[in-house]
Amino acid sequence: MTERATISHPLFSTLSYRKSGSGPVLLLLHGFPEDGGLWREVAPKLSEQFTVICPDLPGTGESGLPEGALTVELMADAVKAIADAEAQEQQYVLAGHSMGGYVAFAFAEKYSERLSGLSLVHSTAAPDNEEKKETRRKAIALIRKGGAEAFLKGMVPGVFSPATREERPDLIQEQLQRALRLAPESLVAFYEAMIKRPDRSGILHKAAFPVQWIFGKDDSTIPPEGVLPQTHFADRNFIAEYPETGHMSMLEQPARLAEDLAVFVQYCQQQKI
Ligand code: MLT
Repeated sequence: MTERATISHPLFSTLSYRKSGSGPVLLLLHGFPEDGGLWREVAPKLSEQFTVICPDLPGTGESGLPEGALTVELMADAVKAIADAEAQEQQYVLAGHSMGGYVAFAFAEKYSERLSGLSLVHSTAAPDNEEKKETRRKAIALIRKGGAEAFLKGMVPGVFSPATREERPDLIQEQLQRALRLAPESLVAFYEAMIKRPDRSGILHKAAFPVQWIFGKDDSTIPPEGVLPQTHFADRNFIAEYPETGHMSMLEQPARLAEDLAVFVQYCQQQKI
C-alpha cells in the first residue's frame, strides 16, 4: 500500500512524498518534467522487499518552491529532510532519474555518509555544455511568454524511444498530461537549476559506495555514449543498457528496471553487513 505523506519545512513550506513497503530504504528521485508519481510502475514491485520513498522534488506535487532561486543543492536538502523524517540515522540507496540524478550527485557531495549506493537512471555527472544551456534559455523564454504547453508538447514525445512512440501513444499522452500539471514557474526553476549545476564527476572518483548506471539505447536526451566513460570512475559499477528504450525505462521497461534496482539494493545492503 502506498501512503502519501507531507512534512513541513522552513524553506519549502511543505514537502510531499509517497512511501510503500518495509525493509532497507530506497529513495527514488524523479526527473523533469515529472513528480514522484513517475515511479508508479516500479515502486509496487520494489516495495515487496524494500521501503520505497518517492519524494516530490520542490515545485512538484505538494512540495513548495523556495523564496529564492532553486538549485540542485537545495533539492538535495529537501531529499535529506524527507529521508531524515523516514530513515533517521540509516544509510540508504538513492536512485535518481536524469535531473533526479543531478540531485543525487549533489546529495552525495554533501551527505555521502548516508549513502550505501547511488543509482543513476539515464543521468550524468557532467554539467550542461553551452549548446544545452542555450537550448534551456530559449525554453525558459518560451515558457515565460505563456508557452509552457507548447514547450511540453514538443519535448515529452522526444524522451521516449521510437518503438515506444510507435507502439504506445497512450503512454506518451499520459506523461504529457502529467507534465502539464506542473506550474510554469516550476519548469523555469528546474531549468535554471540544471543550467547552474557543476561537474560532479569527482564524486565518482572518490565514491566509497557502489554506483549503478542504467542506460536506454535510444535515449536522445542523455545518449549513453557520452556517459559511458564515467562508468569507470568509481571502483564498483553496475552497468546495463536496455534495448528499444529511450530516456524513460521506468515506464518503457519497468519490470527490468525494478529487477536491476532490486539486485543493486541487495548488493549494497550486503556490503553494509
Ligand atoms: C530529465 O529527464 O530530468 C531532463 O530531461 C534532464 C535534462 O534536461 O538534463
